[in-house]
Amino acid sequence: MIWEQAPDYDQLSARAASLLLDSIRANPQIVLGLPTGKTPTGMYERVVRDCEREYHCFKDVTTFNLDEYVGIPKEHDGSYATYMKRVLFDHIDIDPSHTHIPNGMSHNLEFECRRYEAEIDDAGGIDLTFLGLGRNGHIAFNEPGTPFRSRTRVVDLSESTRAANAAYFPDGNVPSQAITMGIATIMASKRIVLLATGSGKQEAIARLRSRQISVDFPASVLWTHPNVHVLVA
Ligand code: PGA
Repeated sequence: MIWEQAPDYDQLSARAASLLLDSIRANPQIVLGLPTGKTPTGMYERVVRDCEREYHCFKDVTTFNLDEYVGIPKEHDGSYATYMKRVLFDHIDIDPSHTHIPNGMSHNLEFECRRYEAEIDDAGGIDLTFLGLGRNGHIAFNEPGTPFRSRTRVVDLSESTRAANAAYFPDGNVPSQAITMGIATIMASKRIVLLATGSGKQEAIARLRSRQISVDFPASVLWTHPNVHVLVA
């Protein structure tokens, strides 16, 4: 595991954006796993800005988002589909049919989870996944206690997670479930970059650094992966 300390959030975002763009330069047909949340917005902003300044080609890139809410139409302001369009997809030359986000409106959610895993397989697996870090060590919506063998599935959101995301749902209808990639799905990515920043994350960063691997702290599983880069600020 490579640990890299950036002096501040701006430089963490710049570094993450260059890891992402370098990976596309090295493999224009790369398959990326992408996160949502507050942490990666600076990285996406940089990617978009760099693409405006210098041509970067997303034409043959494929993306799989980590998760999506259940029961929220993709056009809803709070959906991760809307988030991704707002921060990245609407500003780059990616083919929309190459972007994948679980369908939380599916009438058959179990089937949707299996379908998502199959889509990842059909794409040849994920080459590089970016992750955020939850204060409790969660990765995607895999909360403490999640088995390391878990795959894409429907999860109930904890009250603290719902409270953290309430601002995106001003009508008060904060979703209670999500579809998330499982821990084993994430670990199958050939390479992983984890981003963590801010005073609220320092305890989680210290816990990850302690190298104690436990299902009580999902991100600790990353110590068992051969190619992880942790970027902190
Ligand atoms: P954040 O969320 O980037 O919004 O802090 C990260 C996470 O909880 O996974």
